[in-house]
Order: sequence, then C-alpha cells, then structure tokens
Amino acid sequence: EFVILNGNIINRSEASIDIEDRGYQFGDGVYEVIRVYNGKMFTAQEHLERILLSAKKIGMEITFTVEEMKTLLAELIQKNNVQLGTIYMQFSRGVSPRNHPFPVPAVPQSFVAYTKEIVRPLANLENGVKAILKDDIRWLLCDIKSLNLLGNIMAKQEAVAAGCYEAIQHRGDIVTEGSSSNISIIKDGKMHTHPADNLILNGITRRKIIEVCEKGSIPYVEAAFTLADLENADEVFLSSTTSEITPIVEIDGKQVGNGMPGPVTKKIQVLFDKEIE
Ligand code: PDD
Repeated sequence: EFVILNGNIINRSEASIDIEDRGYQFGDGVYEVIRVYNGKMFTAQEHLERILLSAKKIGMEITFTVEEMKTLLAELIQKNNVQLGTIYMQFSRGVSPRNHPFPVPAVPQSFVAYTKEIVRPLANLENGVKAILKDDIRWLLCDIKSLNLLGNIMAKQEAVAAGCYEAIQHRGDIVTEGSSSNISIIKDGKMHTHPADNLILNGITRRKIIEVCEKGSIPYVEAAFTLADLENADEVFLSSTTSEITPIVEIDGKQVGNGMPGPVTKKIQVLFDKEIE
C-alpha cells in the first residue's frame, strides 16, 4: 500500500511523522476527504480549492497547486488500484520545537495522503438513519476544514452512544450542521440549507445538491432554519462526501414525517447519482 508523504509516493510502512509535528501537537493544519468512484476522484477540483482556502484562513500558504495535487493523488489511486473508496489528505504547518507561535522562519509543511477502499452506504441511503440534537459548542470558524475536531468527535460520540448515526448541532435556536455532515430539511417541497458562512463547513456535497436542485427544478433556499423548522420538516437529510445524501428518519426518538425517507430526498439522491456515474 502506497501513501503520499511530503510530495513523494512511498510505502506506508516507510512513512513516519515527527513527534513535534504541529498537526500532531496542536491540530495545526487542514484536511480533505475526497471520494473515489470508478477509479476517479469525484469533485477533486472543489476539494483541492477548498484545502487551499482552509490553509489560507489559518495563515498557511500551501506550496502545491491544485493541478500538482491532482496529478499526485491520481497517481496514488492508480498505484493502490482503488476503484471505490476515499482519499484522506492533510497539510500541517510542519515540524518545529513545540511553541505556540508559528515557526519563524517558516518550516516545510507536512503533507500526507492515503487511500481507503469503502463501499457506498447503500442500506443507510435506502432506509435512513437516526440522529440526536446537540448544542454546537465548537469555535466560530467552522468554515475551515481544520484538524481540530474535538468538538465534532465529541458530538459524534454522543450520537453513537445513543445508538444514532449523527448529531445535529444547533447554536441556540439555529440548526448549524452535523458533526461530520451538513443538514438540510424539506418543507412543502422546498429544500432549506444553512448559508455558507462561518458557522458551517461549505460542504462540496451540499454544493452538488444545490446544483442538482437547480437542474431538477427543486426549489431551495440557503437560509438558516430553526429547531422548530427541523421538528416540523417533512423530510430531513444529511450530506457528506462519504455519507452522500442520507435521509434522517428519527431525531431524539421522534419520527421525521412518516418515519421513512421522503420523495424529495429520494429525487435528490437520484439526481446526485447521475452526477457520480
Ligand atoms: N466530513 N460538515 C462537517 C463538519 C464535515 O466534517 C463534513 C465532511 C461536511 C460535509 O462536507 P463535504 O460534503 O464536503 O464532505 C460538513 C468529512 C467527510 C470527514 O470529516 O470525514
């Protein structure tokens, strides 16, 4: 199995990271998860542009271009012969004696990427999943796909402990996003999704959904919605690179709609499937 370490494709067994890597010690870095369908990256351009933007927002200028990363990642997929799976990639600010300020002069960033074979979550896509509600206690720069995921993983763990798949987070009355997904609702045929501001990650799957809503003439609005809107929604779904468009059929033990994936969600799933073919 091959991995990328600092721009080189090497054997995973030969890859090692220094104990003073700032990603390891401070979560000082950014990451992406990219889907691989039929041996090809899906929406690679969007993911790679987003990692450059995330890095910029934490004062890190990634030294690779989108094209350079694309070429390297495509080579990795080919070498590992991945047909269906994901690529995980991250950049940290690099290795330096532990100290909070950014290293001066700057040190080379650590760039790691590896592939994983995973199937599509067909049962969840078909039957839907359960979720809990959870206070969004994270910081106010959730638009950055940063390595600091404690708030997210603690929310996810609470969901898992409750026998659920996802935690739907809210700040006061406003629903923000899942612990590792975006949340959308359908009310009277219209799709509602939180605007792409600092309170959510602007999901690539979310953007694709907006695109297919336009193509499929499904009305939508990018506007914050409340817990009451969520409770009164006809349909609810989550979206992410790995979970695609997964219906949510139960929240805190209460059925969403009739407790089955709804027609608009199904229509969006079909339109989305066309994009990945
Ligand atoms: N998670 N919001 C959060 C907090 C996320 O972590 C993710 C993705 C999303 C959806 O973004 P996208 O559609 O671009 O995958 C929204 C990835 C998959 C992860 O951490 O594994």
